[in-house]
Amino acid sequence: MLLLGIESTCDETAVALVKDGQIVLAESISSQSDLHAVYNGVVPELACRRHIDVLVPLLHETLQRAQCSLSDVDALACATGPGLVGALLVGWCAAKTLAIALRKPMIPVNHVEAHLYAAMMTSQTQTLDCTNSLGLVLSGGHTLFLHIEHFGKYSLIGQTLDDALGECFDKVAVMLGLTYPGGAKLEALAKSGDPDTFPLPLPKIKGRPYDFSFSGLKTAFMHLIAKLGGPNALTSCDRGDLAASFQKTAVNAIATVVERYLKASKDKPQRLFLGGGVTSNQALRRRLQTLCVDLEVHFAPRELCVDNAVMIAGLGYHCRHRSIDAAKNLAVRARWPLTEV
Ligand code: KG4
Ligand code: ZN
Repeated sequence: MLLLGIESTCDETAVALVKDGQIVLAESISSQSDLHAVYNGVVPELACRRHIDVLVPLLHETLQRAQCSLSDVDALACATGPGLVGALLVGWCAAKTLAIALRKPMIPVNHVEAHLYAAMMTSQTQTLDCTNSLGLVLSGGHTLFLHIEHFGKYSLIGQTLDDALGECFDKVAVMLGLTYPGGAKLEALAKSGDPDTFPLPLPKIKGRPYDFSFSGLKTAFMHLIAKLGGPNALTSCDRGDLAASFQKTAVNAIATVVERYLKASKDKPQRLFLGGGVTSNQALRRRLQTLCVDLEVHFAPRELCVDNAVMIAGLGYHCRHRSIDAAKNLAVRARWPLTEV
């Protein structure tokens, strides 16, 4: 079964053709980071306009790369939430139009569930075995810790109460003079630094052992830079040490919560699936691999950690029972908790 996937939830526009949930025939992706870098974050109105400009050319490019035509497509899968409403509407409009014109099913896909699926994709065949597992989605917009009873049945263990982890990486990166999105650039800078130079406070939330908070860490980092004489006074050595110290604390914040949960859980989970842009971070990967020795740990392949349409088309195959008649007015969802998929 060949699915055409469309992703436009935030600042990446992507189209992919994926067979049976796993075999990638082609993908085209267009990042908008150049557009938003000057604002140090995503400007929704600009994001929508760019999605409109690039979506149809990306569609043609993907079909051409796969040597396919639209008549080969069996169903459309589109990320219909969560995300920026205007951005979602662009992808949804394209998918809906194609579904109606081609008389094919349209499958609405939850973008966050797709980040988890990206971690399942390479290790699974036709059946998804994620019974009694844990999921961590760490991206620019989300920081979620989930229990997966089985595929499609999720419960929330914890989440961030303020900034998402990727957002915190991006803001701290800007303080170090790096351009948006700064997560991967901060990781590269951290390689030259000593993570023990600047101790930063580990976020703690009274009475909520499995939730996260990153705004305090961000503020502590801002004060630390001020104490060092401001951004212009930093040497390149300071910048490396600062990046490494921040990264160590951010990774510890995630690892501490996972460790606490594993210690407390009676029914030991079997696997941990990790997806979202931040899970491509090598320091995070190493730390969680070491921590979760008794679990199978599945990271999304690095190229599928950030937003992409492969994970949308891939998950769409497994969600084909959720398909809807595109002519009936399906709405996009800015918020779409995984408990409601
Ligand atoms: O999953 P994603 O594309 O976006 C959302 O769905 O929100 O993730 C993008 C986020 C950005 O905040 C980016 O800075 C961060 O992932 N990121 C990283 C790394 N690569 C991307 N953060 C830390 N280390 C990385 N290597
Ligand atoms: Zn995402």
